[in-house]
Amino acid sequence: SQNERDSLFIVLNYAKDYFQETLKKTDEGRSIGLSYFKERGFNEKTIDKFDLGYSVDKWDAFSKAAKSKAYSEDVLEKAGLIIKKEDKKYDRFRGRVIFPIHSISGKVIAFGARTLKKDAKPKYLNSPETEVYHKSEILYGIHQAKQSIKQLDNCYLVEGYTDVISLHQSDISNVVASSGTSLTDDQIKLVHRFTKNITVLFDGDPAGLKASLRGIDMILQAGMNVRVVIFPEGEDPDSYSRKLGTSDFKKFLEENTKDVISFKAALLAKEAARDPLKKAESIKEIVGSIAKMPDPIVRSVYVKETSNKMGIEESVLFSELNKILIGDR
Ligand code: CTP
Ligand code: MN
Ligand code: MN
Ligand code: MN
Ligand code: MN
Repeated sequence: SQNERDSLFIVLNYAKDYFQETLKKTDEGRSIGLSYFKERGFNEKTIDKFDLGYSVDKWDAFSKAAKSKAYSEDVLEKAGLIIKKEDKKYDRFRGRVIFPIHSISGKVIAFGARTLKKDAKPKYLNSPETEVYHKSEILYGIHQAKQSIKQLDNCYLVEGYTDVISLHQSDISNVVASSGTSLTDDQIKLVHRFTKNITVLFDGDPAGLKASLRGIDMILQAGMNVRVVIFPEGEDPDSYSRKLGTSDFKKFLEENTKDVISFKAALLAKEAARDPLKKAESIKEIVGSIAKMPDPIVRSVYVKETSNKMGIEESVLFSELNKILIGDR
């Protein structure tokens, strides 16, 4: 019910304040959490913009504080802040830095929490699904990004919390994260409220590549325009923006943004050069993406482009395309 949802918003906001205060005003928070963020290059302004926090490494520090403010165990559990197991209860987030997740309007609806121990699992522990948090319907950073997405008429899509935050610090604020899970139609619709254009910036590793290929087709299917930037092996937007610094990073983005045809062509180019059969395969791959586009006029623009780039007759591409379209729809 709306009442129940409201009580969750209130306790989640309390938790956000509590974790923020722990980060800034306790010895453990400052010496461990704050120094971690500083080491990652986050400045005070950034830390405040994203309401970053810290949870101390105790079983019940947060629940004790919350109960002293008269929050019930029931509401704490429904908000995903405590875990009850048989007769034991304990805080979900312990000894981690905290990334609050905001709704579009800026209410705190969940948390992501990163361990500071090397190789501890899981690296990120997130809130469970609750009455106010549906992971598949939200994108991390949408609240902080929406205005600038609209203004710049483009949205950068990254994988992680820290990618969003580092890009803001590099003066790029039209950015949201899918938070490591595969992109959903609801998330694409959320971006579509503000722009028709998405630029995918996924990690330079095999998982990132696979996720971007899948994401691209979903974005095309939604009738939106998609562009892609491939990052060097082992880099993500966070690490690479810090490595290059703001102005070189922006230049890198400008010079390496590819439309979907060039992206797929480049991806398959190496193999295609060696093997004409591979070239045929890669053209089919590209035509497969074009077939996802709902607008026939847009499709024909991309056919023309593919024809120019790959040196294949438009008529041949159209007949391939029609085979797929007739089979599909
Ligand atoms: N993620 C998660 N749970 C995990 C691992 C990852 O929810 N166990 C999500 C987080 O939202 C994370 C994103 O997937 O930000 C991308 O994962 P990854 O690239 O591994 O992490 P980074 O964001 O690069 O984090 P860091 O730089 O701190 O290692
Ligand atoms: Mn819902
Ligand atoms: Mn990754
Ligand atoms: Mn990273
Ligand atoms: Mn990453």
